[in-house]
Amino acid sequence: MDKLVIEGGLPLNGSVPISGAKNAALPILIATLLAPGEHVIDNVPGLVDVSSTLSLMGRIGCPSLLSGSRVRLDTTRVAFCEAPYDVVRKMRASVLVLGPLLARCGEARVSLPGGCAIGMRPVDQHLKGLEALGCTFNLENGYINGRVDHLVGADIHLDVPTVTGTENILMAAVLAEGITRIHNAAREPEIVDLARFLRSMGARVTGEGTDVIEVDGVPALRPSRIPHRILPDRIEAGTYLVAGAITGGRLTIEGAPVEELNAVLAVLEQAGCSISVTGDAITVERNGPLQSVNVSTEPHPGFPTDMQAQWMALMAVANGVSVVEECIFENRFMHVPELNRLGARVVTDGRCATITGVSDLVGATVMATDLRASASLVLAGLVASGQTQMLRLYHLDRGYDRLVEKLQGVGARVVRVADDVTVEVGSLTQDEEAKRAVS
Ligand code: EPZ
Repeated sequence: MDKLVIEGGLPLNGSVPISGAKNAALPILIATLLAPGEHVIDNVPGLVDVSSTLSLMGRIGCPSLLSGSRVRLDTTRVAFCEAPYDVVRKMRASVLVLGPLLARCGEARVSLPGGCAIGMRPVDQHLKGLEALGCTFNLENGYINGRVDHLVGADIHLDVPTVTGTENILMAAVLAEGITRIHNAAREPEIVDLARFLRSMGARVTGEGTDVIEVDGVPALRPSRIPHRILPDRIEAGTYLVAGAITGGRLTIEGAPVEELNAVLAVLEQAGCSISVTGDAITVERNGPLQSVNVSTEPHPGFPTDMQAQWMALMAVANGVSVVEECIFENRFMHVPELNRLGARVVTDGRCATITGVSDLVGATVMATDLRASASLVLAGLVASGQTQMLRLYHLDRGYDRLVEKLQGVGARVVRVADDVTVEVGSLTQDEEAKRAVS
């Protein structure tokens, strides 16, 4: 297993290219099941979750080829309508095969996703929506077994605006007879990108990005003749914006989904950062000490829960006291004890965390617990004095494409090494100075 070693304290300067969005790539790669044939998807990020999705598609009978950020997927044949336990336990998003397999094959067997580090994460709304379209389910031996003879459109009222729930129902509804309306639908940009992709295959979808999505079902879909380009990752972009703010550098995020970042940009400005936008490039820089700003996580377009941990890292070194309220997941503060190991002062009480800003964080060994928690530890390590080692790097690999390379590209002293390798404290700095000496 690998770890990350960071020597903090340097401002990051320069520009970072943003990759395709993980949370759009996963449903779009799976949605290819709806249209038998060859598909070409571009701007696919190099992530462990993407490889897991492609291997799941392979097990279903759909081979793929990944070259650079282009994926070729052949869904002509579906051999197995199943997402097995060993795949789903590693990546909950595998549950997204439920809707497409039921629509394509009339049956699906999917391991019931268990809880995860950030919460119980039930799928009752997925099943509720698919049942409204005519599917029947039984839960047996930890598996959801679904069947449907004929999908028929319906009005579906979600109790919560679930992202993957909306996506699962949407992907089944496009092949249902008649009209489906999903009320209280999630409005995330990744759902808008999925709807765009479904339309490119011949689906009739309107209202994506609003809380009512309407689908007029069609008998069949066909692969799009034009490769679909996955939208840029707003959470990756937000993470690098915080990296620029926390290190006090001048960082430009290139190829960013600007309009999808309003909530994040607004609080960065309140915290004392200046933000300038040129086309799809966003530049962040600080005009003085960071100010504490409270946030509450909300469904899109509110402040994203996937930026909560990163925001907490920033508030750990801001002037004053701030409160971060996590309103989406019941257990998304696993990063708090690790940030406190770096000298942060964070106390939690239920869904609220109170952060008393400190002037300095000090490097230590910390443990990643989930994807976004690991991002917050990297950000804290970039500003902490001395050396920070982050263990369980595999969490980060699930959602950040070429993070070490991108950070080194803007001056960060960070390396990826095997767990048992010792990196002499200060050696990354010496390397830096040596490089500077020769250049
Ligand atoms: C998606 O997860 C994202 N994952 C998550 O990103 C993200 O945190 C989340 O949406 C919220 O924005 C992908 O898109 C692959 P939800 P999802 O269903 O769809 C409750 C990351 O870091 N709920 O919108 O699983 C649920 O418990 C990941 O990239 C039900 O009660 O989240 C939660 O409290 C982490 N019943 C709330 O809704 C259901 O059937 C929102 O969850 C479904 C959800």
